[in-house]
Amino acid sequence: MHYFSLAVPFWGLAAFATARSTCCKADTKQCPVTNLSALRETGEPIGKTTVFENVTMYYTGQEDKCRQDTAVLFLTDIYGLASPEDLRLADSFGRAGYFTVAPDLFNGAPSPLDMNAPGFNQTQFLAAHGPDVTDPIVAKGIRYLREVRGYPRVAVTGYCFGGRYALRFAGASGAVQGVDAAFAAHPAMWTDAEIAAITLPASEMENLFDNLTTPWQIDLYSGAMHGFAVRGNLSDPQMRFAKETAFIQAVRWFQFWAK
Ligand SMILES: *[C@@H]1O[C@H](CO)[C@@H](O)[C@H](O)[C@H]1NC(C)=O
Ligand SMILES: *[C@@H]1O[C@H](CO)[C@@H](O)[C@H](O)[C@H]1NC(C)=O
Ligand SMILES: *[C@@H]1O[C@H](CO)[C@@H](O)[C@H](O)[C@H]1NC(C)=O
Ligand SMILES: *[C@@H]1O[C@H](CO)[C@@H](O)[C@H](O)[C@H]1NC(C)=O
Ligand SMILES: *[C@@H]1O[C@H](CO)[C@@H](O)[C@H](O)[C@H]1NC(C)=O
Repeated sequence: MHYFSLAVPFWGLAAFATARSTCCKADTKQCPVTNLSALRETGEPIGKTTVFENVTMYYTGQEDKCRQDTAVLFLTDIYGLASPEDLRLADSFGRAGYFTVAPDLFNGAPSPLDMNAPGFNQTQFLAAHGPDVTDPIVAKGIRYLREVRGYPRVAVTGYCFGGRYALRFAGASGAVQGVDAAFAAHPAMWTDAEIAAITLPASEMENLFDNLTTPWQIDLYSGAMHGFAVRGNLSDPQMRFAKETAFIQAVRWFQFWAK
C-alpha cells in the first residue's frame, strides 16, 4: 500500500505560531481536542452576517467561551459564503469554542459550484481575485476581530483559495503581518516557488519548511481529493478520516499555539 503517496499532493499544513498564556485547560471537556461533536456535516448554517467596511462578514460561535482571547478567521475556498460546507465548517470552529468570522472574499460573487457553468471563466475569476484585491479583505477580517470584537489574538484557517492567504498572513511567503497562528488545508495558487514545493517529496518539503524559524506541522492524507478538508464523499472512509482529522489538527494547533 502506498499510504504516503506523494503523487497525491493534497495535504494540510500549519505554520507560524507564538505561544502565550492560557485561559483554557486543555484537558477539560470544553476543549474537545479529539471530540468530534463540534464538527457537523449536515444542517443549515447557524451564523449571521454583518458588514464591516463594505465587506460582508459571516460570524458564528459564542464570544464568551473559555478561549475568549483568541478568535478564528476562516478563509473559504472559491465557493465563498454561498457554500454550506464552508459555513458549516466555520460553525464547527464556533462549537469548538472559537468565535469565528468568515469574510466574503468575493464581494457577493463567488465561483458557481459548477465551474463549467455558462458565463463563468475561472481564469478571469482568479485573475480578478489576486492578492491585490484579497489581502485587503483578509486584513479587514483581522481588524474586525481585533478592533470591533476586541480579540487580542487571531488564528487563521484557510482552505484551497483561502489557504494561500492563511499562509500569506502567517508570513510564510513574506506578505502581511497580523495573525497569531495559521492553518491551511490544500492551499491553492501559491507563488511559483510554493507550487513547486507541493510536488516535492515530503523530505524535500520538510527542508523547505525547516528553514522557517516558527513551529510547523504538515500532514499528508491518502485517498483524499482536492478540497477534502471542506467537502468530499464522507461515505469514503479515507476522505472522512482526512476531513475529521484536518479539523482536529486545526483546533489542536490553535489550542496549543494561539492561547
Ligand atoms: C464533547 O464535546 C461536547 C460539547 O461540544 C460535550 O457536550 C461532550 O461532553 C464532550 N464529550 C467528551 C467525551 O468530552
Ligand atoms: C465603501 O464603499 C463606498 C462605495 O463604493 C465607498 O465610497 C467607501 O469609501 C467604502 N468604504 C470603505 C471603508 O471601504
Ligand atoms: C477566460 O478568460 C481568459 C482571461 O481573460 C481569456 O484569455 C480566455 O479566452 C477566457 N476563456 C473563455 C472560454 O472565454
Ligand atoms: C534553506 O536555507 C538554506 C540556507 O540558507 C538554503 O541553502 C536552502 O536553499 C534553503 N532551502 C530551501 C528549500 O529553501
Ligand atoms: C462515496 O464513497 C462510497 C464508498 O467508497 C462509494 O461507494 C460511493 O460510490 C461514493 N459516492 C460518490 C458520489 O462518489
